[in-house]
Parts: sequence; structure tokens; C-alpha cells
Amino acid sequence: MKDSPPTLILSKWPLNERTRSKGYMLYEEWGFRGCPFETTSLPPTEFGSHLLVGRAEATTALRKRIASSNKLATVEGLNGVGKTSVVNVSSYQLLRQHVELGEGPLYIPCRKVFQLRPNTDIEEFIDYVFMEVAQTLIEESEEIKRKGHYLRSEAMNRWLNEPQAVAFSGGIWIVSGGRQESANTTDGFQRSGFRKAVIDWLNKIFPERRDGGVICIIDNLELLQSSDAAREKLEYLRDELFILNGLRWVLCGSLGIIHGVVTSPRLDGYLHDPVEIGEIGAEHCTQILTSRLAAYKLSDQYYMPLTERSFERLYSILNGNIRSVLGSADDFCHWIADHHVPDTAEEKDEAFQFWLNDQATRAYDATRQNIRPRAMRVFEQACERVVFSPSDFEEFGFNSVAAMRPHVKDLEDAGTLVSTQDEGDKRRKTIQVTPKGWLMSYHLRNTSTISNESDSPI
Ligand SMILES: Nc1ncnc2c1ncn2[C@@H]1O[C@H](COP(=O)(O)OP(=O)(O)O)[C@@H](O)[C@H]1O
Ligand SMILES: [Mg+2]
Repeated sequence: MKDSPPTLILSKWPLNERTRSKGYMLYEEWGFRGCPFETTSLPPTEFGSHLLVGRAEATTALRKRIASSNKLATVEGLNGVGKTSVVNVSSYQLLRQHVELGEGPLYIPCRKVFQLRPNTDIEEFIDYVFMEVAQTLIEESEEIKRKGHYLRSEAMNRWLNEPQAVAFSGGIWIVSGGRQESANTTDGFQRSGFRKAVIDWLNKIFPERRDGGVICIIDNLELLQSSDAAREKLEYLRDELFILNGLRWVLCGSLGIIHGVVTSPRLDGYLHDPVEIGEIGAEHCTQILTSRLAAYKLSDQYYMPLTERSFERLYSILNGNIRSVLGSADDFCHWIADHHVPDTAEEKDEAFQFWLNDQATRAYDATRQNIRPRAMRVFEQACERVVFSPSDFEEFGFNSVAAMRPHVKDLEDAGTLVSTQDEGDKRRKTIQVTPKGWLMSYHLRNTSTISNESDSPI
């Protein structure tokens, strides 16, 4: 399908002073109970599970990995494609399964998702994990008791009836050693004492590995920037956290980092091959929109300027990055609220097309000055490949990695490409196009269509 040229003029979409001056809450005014385009990961709840579209295979594969053995589950996929949501919902499904059956292993999603950065102090990180795990056990048990109607399995009884080994109140951790409770003061609070108390508690609830555990995620491993850095931190955590009874781990990352880590000899045998999260099928794409509108609408009398057709278009231009699609959908709605509010589906699509062209032109204009023509050609090829690595230099027409590097660097600085390194394996595919890059690519295609059209004889 050919993109229509940006022939509309802005005067067709005048600023809407009436709606502007009201300063209302946009989606509430349009008949929703909040923003249907939140870009946070879907949570490990019934709601999250309800909104997760087109991931039956991935969640099944992941649940099996979490539940099956001593190995850690891993998940790999491009930014914004929906990894964390898949892990959260899979964790929730495991909990629900236990609660519904009243038997089998008990899995409890941890209330926090963890991240590691190059400057993370690893001991502090471990403390933080223990605190969050303890806090999860406390909060979730309260929730379960509150709901009351659950079948109580043995594991749940161990969890809910065990006098709490660890509690948090008034900013102080209370650790019960044996029968006596001892409140820690800030100084007196021993790191090892606290860790041991949590480990003991986990061992009571989950005496054996097959009894289940609290599911913990280390997300966005690409923040460590190189597979080497990731391996080093994970190897350390292996003995401190990964092998503990009562904890189940899922490692999540993009840009090839998980592949780089999985092949580490020292982690060999500890990690499952990654569950790959790709774009959800085109047939599911509009369901992302419709399920959100259904979940957020207050009645059937709502207004939504973004049509399924335009949503699909956005999804394809942004190459399946759902986070970016939702963020853009929200931007578009705000833009509409500031301008002329279209009525019919045709008007809505026309307005969307105008907005999209404008966004793409801006992405291009903001970048153009900083990118030389040669880098622009690298960019165009990068878009064709979606993901590539420095060792592909020949296919980009360079003699060496070094010759291509400055162009990639310029494109990264302009926010159109993003990368991580794998020092061990230079062939690893670790560079990808960003949402801004995809918009720019759309602009380039769009304008070349127009110029081709005007070049061709009439
Ligand atoms: N399968 C899905 N169906 C509907 N929405 C999704 C789905 N997967 C992700 N999302 C939404 O997309 C956004 C990005 O998801 P997230 O899981 O955080 O991606 P990632 O972890 O890969 O960066 C979130 O707003 C989330 O709600
Ligand atoms: Mg994520």
C-alpha cells in the first residue's frame, strides 16, 4: 500500500480553543476511566492477564521453564515488544493455577522487577532482593487472607500460618530468631542475620525445589551494556541467589545480551535457552487496541480518534514495538484534543495520517543535520536488516569494522540506533533501530515515494 503524501495543511486542523481551555482530563472526558495507552508492563494480575494479547505460546513455554527444573528461565526480545509483560503474566498464571487446583507447586510473583546496572553494588542488590521477597510474602499473604475463598494447599498453609519470620513495620525489620522476636535497630541490623532469616522462611514455605518459589525477574540486562559485564554479575549471583530454595529466576534482555550470557561456560547448565519474544502476529495487533478500549471504557458512549486501521499502521511502522505504539497513540490523542476533533472514521484516519507525517518529518529534521550522507545509507540498510552487528561491515560496503563504526556512532548519538557489545563474540547481532529511527525511516520511504511519483512522466 502506498503512503499518501502529506498534502494536508495545518489550517484544516485548527487549534481547538474550546477544548483546550477546559484543562480537562482527556480520557475521562472521552468516556474512559483513565488512559488506555499506559506504557508500563502488564502486571502479574488478572487485569494484566486479561490485556495480554497473542502470547499463548510464549507464556506456555515460559511457565514450563520456570516450573520444570533447576535451570533459570531466560527471555530475549527487542525493546518494547512485550517481554516483561509475558514474564509477569506467566508468573501470575502459575500462582492462579495453584490457587485454583489447591495443589502442586506454589509460585508467587515478586512485587518488584529487578534491574542491574554497571555501577550496581552487588551486595546491596542482594539485600534489596531479600527485602522485596520478604515484603512480597507478607503483602501477598495478606491479600490471600483477605480474599479468603482460596482452596488452601499445604504450601499455602505453610506460608499463611507460619508465624512470620520477618516483618517490616515502622521502617524497621523485625526478625524472629526461634521464638523470640528481635527488632533490629539501624546499626544492630546484621546483613547476614536478615538474609538468613529470609532464607529460613523460604525454606519453611518451600522445603524442596519442586514446592515452587517466589518468581523474581532481572529485567533489561542490556543495561549492563556488554555481555561480559552481564556474565560477571550473574556468575556472582548464581551462588548467592539463583540456587536458593524458594526463589525462581527469570532473566530478561534485549540486543542479544541473553544469547551472550547463555553461552558463558561458567553459567553453562544453569540457564535455559531463551524464550524468544517476537512481534505478535498481525492478526492480534488490533486486539491490543480493542481490548484496552473495552477494559477502560465507562460505557459504550466513548470517543476514540484512533481507528483500528490507524493503530495497525502505527504498529507496522514502529516495527512491533508495542510500548512505542501505545506512547504514540497517547500522543496522537492529545494532539487531537488540542486540534480539530474528527468525527467519522475517514476523518480520523486522515487526521492520523497528517499527524504521523508530521511526527516523521520532525524525527527526520531533528536528525538530518547530524548525519552525513554515508551514515544515512548505513541507516537505510540497518532498517532493512532490523538487527545487525559491527561484523556485518562488508555488507554495508565498508572495508573494516573501524570504517563503519563512526557512522553507527553518529546514528546512535542521534537516537536512531541502539546497541550493546559482546566482546567475546563480535559477530553477535547487537544493533537495532529505535522507534525514532523507524519514524525517520517512514519519512524517508514516504518522501522517496513522492519524489518517485513526481519524477515519473505523467
Ligand atoms: N501481548 C501484549 N498485549 C497487549 N499489550 C502488551 C502486550 N505486550 C506488551 N504490551 C504492552 O506493551 C508495552 C511494553 O511491554 P513490556 O512488556 O514492558 O515490553 P518489554 O519488556 O519487551 O520492553 C506495555 O505498555 C505493555 O502493557
Ligand atoms: Mg521490559
